[in-house]
Amino acid sequence: MPPTLPRRPLGRTGLDVSALALGTMQFGWTADEATSFAVLDRFLEAGGNLIDTADVYSRWAEGNPGGVSEAIIGRWMADRGARDGVVLATKVRGRMWDGPDGEGLSRAHIVRACEDSLRRLRTDRIDLYQTHAWDEGTPLDETLAALDDLVRSGKVRFIGASNIPAWHLVEALWRSDAGHWARYDTLQPNFSLIHRKEHEVDLAAVCARFEIAILPYSPLAGGFLTGKYRPDAAPPTGARSARLRERYLNDRGIAVLDTLDAVAAAHGATCAQVALAWLLAQPNVAAPIIGANTVAQLDELLPGAGLTLGADELAGLGAASAGW
Ligand SMILES: NC(=O)c1ccc[n+]([C@@H]2O[C@H](COP(=O)([O-])OP(=O)(O)OC[C@H]3O[C@@H](n4cnc5c(N)ncnc54)[C@H](OP(=O)(O)O)[C@@H]3O)[C@@H](O)[C@H]2O)c1
Repeated sequence: MPPTLPRRPLGRTGLDVSALALGTMQFGWTADEATSFAVLDRFLEAGGNLIDTADVYSRWAEGNPGGVSEAIIGRWMADRGARDGVVLATKVRGRMWDGPDGEGLSRAHIVRACEDSLRRLRTDRIDLYQTHAWDEGTPLDETLAALDDLVRSGKVRFIGASNIPAWHLVEALWRSDAGHWARYDTLQPNFSLIHRKEHEVDLAAVCARFEIAILPYSPLAGGFLTGKYRPDAAPPTGARSARLRERYLNDRGIAVLDTLDAVAAAHGATCAQVALAWLLAQPNVAAPIIGANTVAQLDELLPGAGLTLGADELAGLGAASAGW
């Protein structure tokens, strides 16, 4: 049996979510439907409830129309009768159809994209609707008013942001306040032991000040922090392998892996589990969003949520990864 995931409050929303969220970018891309169902089953069995997807997954892959991950989750929830046990998060912003409204955060795009997501997910509500990235081309008030209408209609419960500069997040909070609209209650940043600056400079302080729950994506830097990328090891296969080696397999990346190795050995744990435990110890982090291509990968990650690191270990990991 996999370990039971602890629950944590999702910021101010009143929702309790599992300390690890299941990312589903892999579904229909690098994991087929049967494997995706098995990963979802295991996550639920382990006490997981927060599932993150996006309408655009995985439109970037050759021959993939997008919407595939949402459709797989929709079929799984219907087949298992699982909808009420899930906190369902999806995203809007990416290009989903041709024409001027086919992407972005205009009212026209958001309203149609939300209906499409609800249909693919086979549900009447999205628990957390996130803007996938900011949209410089649309007035912020138009975006926030459209999201607020979805909240008032009951199609969306809470809204969150992703890939947004700190100044724009503050501006959005201020405009929501002025318009009496729903406000961003979560932030989904690229944040891991080897990708810290983007979040820690400014965004982290905004989240602390305004009680925004943080859902870090790519918490293992796409797999690098599992420790399977090493100078003397055969390159892992996988869609992102070459890019990860090029980006992280250098002196600084190896220093982070060395520190992870030492902490992991002290706990009888793995590098991936320690990397997740470090994130869970950071302020305002509710749940790192993990990705798994197999049930075996997921099983290795789950114990990370129950691992408590000492202050000296957190400091050592922080020092090894400073400046990233
Ligand atoms: N908001 C955004 O812009 C954004 C961007 C990216 C992702 N996300 C979300 O965040 C989720 C997670 O992102 P991510 O996939 O980059 O997360 P990640 O946890 O950093 O990396 C996951 C990858 O690591 C490898 N892996 C996982 N467990 C492993 C294990 N036990 N042993 C060895 N390798 C293992 C797998 O890749 P291989 O099998 O290929 O090695 C897996 O696909 C996505 O599914 C998505 O929901 C959001």
